[in-house]
Amino acid sequence: MATPSLSLRHVSDFAADVRASLTKPGQRELPSKYLYDEVGSALFETICVLPEYGLTRADARLLQKHAGEIVRRLPSPIQVAELGSGSGKKTRWILEALSRRQEIYYYPIEISPYALAACEKELGQIDLVSIVGYEQPYLEGLRAVAEGREEQDHLLVLFLGSTIGNFDREAGEEFLREMRAFLRPGDALLLGTDLEKSVELQLLAYDDAAGVTAAFNMNLLARINRELGADFDLSCFQHEARWNYAERRIEMHLRSLRRQTVRIPAASLRVMLDEDETIWTESSHKYRAEEIPGMAERTGFRCDGQWIDREWPFAQNLLIAE
Ligand code: AVJ
Repeated sequence: MATPSLSLRHVSDFAADVRASLTKPGQRELPSKYLYDEVGSALFETICVLPEYGLTRADARLLQKHAGEIVRRLPSPIQVAELGSGSGKKTRWILEALSRRQEIYYYPIEISPYALAACEKELGQIDLVSIVGYEQPYLEGLRAVAEGREEQDHLLVLFLGSTIGNFDREAGEEFLREMRAFLRPGDALLLGTDLEKSVELQLLAYDDAAGVTAAFNMNLLARINRELGADFDLSCFQHEARWNYAERRIEMHLRSLRRQTVRIPAASLRVMLDEDETIWTESSHKYRAEEIPGMAERTGFRCDGQWIDREWPFAQNLLIAE
């Protein structure tokens, strides 16, 4: 793969998105997808090993334990696409189980070139598995993979780690519907969803003792400084995790500790923040296992199987396109 670089198009997309989300009336926001630059991706990998963040371990445990059973429910021949592969570590269980019955093509789809490179390194050496990375937004990558396959090939789409939780509930369902439009009946989607647990545990998972999640959140401001020439003073902001009871989601915010003005030259923007005003940077929706079959039905799938981790409530859901 080519060395990751900052193309001009990326810089101007970033600037336009930062401008639009910070100037929207009401609550200021920044899009969570920009948390994952090289530093952010490395911090996220560290979050995944924190004792407070049980999500990734639960996800991996379920895949390790049930890969055989999941794979037995899939049609043949089949190819695998993954949305937001990250480092790709937990995907190994599925690829190894599938490669016991056929040769596999694996297409990780990632907008982060750093995550993509890590994934290609992690999974590039499995016997009978060929890996072809797509550095593209999810749906563009999925369309390319779906349209490029042979007539007889089915597709398994992996959407793990509860990444769907970043979408509002309605937008999440719309995303499933858009995905479904690229699939054929019998194709599969393995969807990982973090389940509701005590508010205390959920808050700790997004506000850990070592401050890694705080650094992950704060890095978004540092990134805007680096790439857009802004002058955010990070000592004037504080990381905050909130549980939104009505929406059943964790929200990460950055709280301005005083009244201040920030300049973001590449976005032609000056932002005035009040003391205690927050910038909302990410949502992580939590689910009830019982709500997944309904989501599947409303979006053109049926839920064919569900595997739940009891240690850290989390579900793998196997959705089959109708
Ligand atoms: C990768 C989006 C699933 O929402 O739990 C972890 C990102 N943010 N800690 C999540 C995240 C703060 C994570 N996802």
